[in-house]
Amino acid sequence: MSDSHLTFCLLSSILALILIFTFIKRKKPTLNLPPGQMGWPFLGETIGYLKPYPAITIGHFMEKHIARYGTIYKSNLFGEPAIVSADAGFNRFILQNEGKLFEISYPKSVRGILGKWSMLVLVGDMHREMRNISLNFLSHARLRTHLLKDVEKHTLLVLNSWKDNCTFSAIAEAKKFTFNFIAKHMLSLDPGNHETEQLKREYVTFMKGVISAPLNLPGTAYRKALKSRSNILKFIEEKMEGRSKRNQEGKGSLEGEEDLLDWAMMHSNLSTEQILDLILSLLFAGHETSSIAIALAIYFLPGCPRAMQQLREEHVEIDRSKKQTGEVELTWDDYKRMEFTHCVVNETLRLGNVVRYLHRKAIKDVRYKGYDIPCGWKVLPVLAAVHLDPALFDQPQQFNPWRWQGKNKSGSWQNTSNNFMAFGGGIRLCAGSELSKLEMALFIHHLILNYHWELVGTDQPLAYPFVDFPKGLSIKAEALSKYHNSSLETT
Ligand code: HEM
Repeated sequence: MSDSHLTFCLLSSILALILIFTFIKRKKPTLNLPPGQMGWPFLGETIGYLKPYPAITIGHFMEKHIARYGTIYKSNLFGEPAIVSADAGFNRFILQNEGKLFEISYPKSVRGILGKWSMLVLVGDMHREMRNISLNFLSHARLRTHLLKDVEKHTLLVLNSWKDNCTFSAIAEAKKFTFNFIAKHMLSLDPGNHETEQLKREYVTFMKGVISAPLNLPGTAYRKALKSRSNILKFIEEKMEGRSKRNQEGKGSLEGEEDLLDWAMMHSNLSTEQILDLILSLLFAGHETSSIAIALAIYFLPGCPRAMQQLREEHVEIDRSKKQTGEVELTWDDYKRMEFTHCVVNETLRLGNVVRYLHRKAIKDVRYKGYDIPCGWKVLPVLAAVHLDPALFDQPQQFNPWRWQGKNKSGSWQNTSNNFMAFGGGIRLCAGSELSKLEMALFIHHLILNYHWELVGTDQPLAYPFVDFPKGLSIKAEALSKYHNSSLETT
């Protein structure tokens, strides 16, 4: 073969290769990912994203990213490529398309601690089954007939123990209330009992692990939490064995009087392992969140004397009319009359943002408003960013319960908004949302009727991103019974 022939063959092969590559490249459309940066290899931008900041703000990281890239941006978080959304419409779209385009996807560390049967991890039919059990247990009917009475009882138990003019941690008291209540309804544990206190201690260690770095090494919070998890499960399993024996002897609880453990054992087809994870995750979901929400109300209210005054008037009026009819315990109708309190509850949740963002992943390639979200990418709808968006909520950093008052165009009370997603949305809407609102309202009722309180020292809620008060929220409470008849005495 001559040199010129060889050169010709070489050139035509190169040309053919270029044409093939160009064709392949043309065939595969380039993705229009949202703007953003991926940060460092593996770590991405996780450290900046998780840096603590005041809970009534969206934090420096979000502010900077939204200013630079807009409300939907790409990043690399928790070791995965991610799309972060501070966009109300996109957040709703994500939650409404659960199971179709997106799916819950918490980091492995959380899954390791909560268990593979936890409702916060499950998808599909198994999620539906677990959710139905929880919803049945937390149903509207049960709230009215069983839970309301007990929420009031446990509120009074805590408030009655407060010593006049003493300083104490409000967050510890709120946790005592929500833990005692949920432990009673899940496992029939009585407050103050040795085993209730033991379980509470294990829970504190467990919680620290849920929110710590997932380092399974001796001495780490994560390793200790895994140990606590197995202690808690052992504790619940022993209870199950006791209940099985009792049921065989025909001494089971009466229908309607069962706790969740009884109910799950008798009316579901769940295995022991599944029941254990169900109880563990409901104890977790139902106690931390509500207690932080109550602490946030205790924190916000003294900063807004007008709200405090209007709240007191509402509850004094309810108390007065109850005394007139000789009724002692609060009823569902009393709860419904707490209209301004409902506004305070909403405003506390909007401004405090107990659950700031959710973990999802795209299970299909998704296109939204011209952006491509590739299948498998993490998707984080940031609920807090919507609640604190000045375009959606006027002066969003102000505690203003009146924003929830008034009637909307269709004539119903405007105590909700499309953009208010404190309890998530779609098929995973918080199963305990009604219970937690009831807990907050009843706690506020007895608190405001019986105590004047002030904040002691400087403390503020921080987002770690879970919300907490670094100094435990110290308050000093003065009993109002010195000045008028206390409702604590009558109930
Ligand atoms: C102020 C208090 C509370 C807040 C702000 C809150 C918030 C939330 C949010 C945002 C979700 C959605 C999670 C997701 O989609 O990834 C959720 C789910 C859930 N919450 Fe709550 N929650 C509260 C209280 C409670 C209580 C008291 C209980 C139970 C006793 C509870 C039980 C649950 C359960 C079981 C789920 C999972 C629902 C599912 O996946 O189908 N929560 N909560």
